[in-house]
Amino acid sequence: MTIDWDTSRGGKGGYAFYMEKEIHEQPDAIKDTVAPHIVDGKTSFEAEGIPNSFFRENQNIVVIACGTAMHAGLIGQQLFHTLANIHTDVAVASEFTYTNPVIKPGTLVIAVSQSGETVDTIEAIKYAKKKGAKVLSIVNVKGSTISDISDYCIYTHAGPEIAVASTKAYTSQLTVFYLLAIHAARLNGLVSEEESSKFLNELQRVPEVIGQILEKKEFVKKMTSKFLLSENAFMIGRGLDYSLLLEGSLKLKEISYVHSEAYASGELKHGTIALITDGIPVVALVTQSALASKEYSNIREVQSRGASMILITRESLYKDMNIPEDDTFILPEMDDMFMPFPAAVVMQLIAYYTSYTKGFDVDKPRNLAKVVTVE
Ligand code: G6P
Repeated sequence: MTIDWDTSRGGKGGYAFYMEKEIHEQPDAIKDTVAPHIVDGKTSFEAEGIPNSFFRENQNIVVIACGTAMHAGLIGQQLFHTLANIHTDVAVASEFTYTNPVIKPGTLVIAVSQSGETVDTIEAIKYAKKKGAKVLSIVNVKGSTISDISDYCIYTHAGPEIAVASTKAYTSQLTVFYLLAIHAARLNGLVSEEESSKFLNELQRVPEVIGQILEKKEFVKKMTSKFLLSENAFMIGRGLDYSLLLEGSLKLKEISYVHSEAYASGELKHGTIALITDGIPVVALVTQSALASKEYSNIREVQSRGASMILITRESLYKDMNIPEDDTFILPEMDDMFMPFPAAVVMQLIAYYTSYTKGFDVDKPRNLAKVVTVE
């Protein structure tokens, strides 16, 4: 295995933990991941040998991955649906082989992995290849097993990620999904060249927007006081917000040991709302303009049962939400589709500061490994 990143990027660089440093490295990681794929203002995957006809020939995608990488796939799924009209499933790699997945000609497996060494993902790739699927991987570590056994590999350029909890690798994986979905939509004639360059401009704004969030990190730290005395928390959202919260919730669980469940807001009433009692922290993520009024009702439902709310939203949607400013993080405005980026960083900071304030070893949470090589 060869790792060719710049080792001067090692060390904690003055931050208390690697995780904090890696959260701050996201603007650069995203810039570096985007750069090779915009050529003359257009998406390009030529260097990876991906032909322009690729997404015409592959009209059925299955994303396989574990943990955080799988959560990146859930956002990718919505992007492929929304932009490129390509049917996409997301499978937990460890379950993939047990479900007799349907792999027909034209099925593309996208395997996502920071390390490129997760054994569950490797086994799922081998199984898919045996059944005749083409495999495209999105990997951070060059020369890793997953990049080697895939037909095509797109590297994220997050650099070394040391903290067990993945941050910059996740947002870099998201970046590749945005690029791929825009690329597929453009080449399949579903978005015009003009629309596609508008999307790329928005993607290129992400590093600056993340910088704006990081300037407000002390505010996030204050907000996390709600998690310090609670053993449980819930997170609610719809669409992209829900997929993003699955990742936010995993972060909170893995490093701060708060039992947290992310729920699709509309599904809460089918059982889980029974667990919302006085003082329980509930994070509501509301970034999607078309879904905000429905989310408003869900917030009222949990508030009326005594939930202690944290709202993460954007200025244009905040005025209707009726939650005090001290309990609200206002995200910078972006096109709806790109809101997962700033939201991800706020969720990472919430988990980080909860763990940090509780005095835990943020980088090395109990029972967890950075690279999982057992099934
Ligand atoms: C471990 C890590 C997670 C990671 C998962 C998949 O559980 O603790 O942060 O998301 O493995 O790892 P991979 O290297 O395949 O992305």
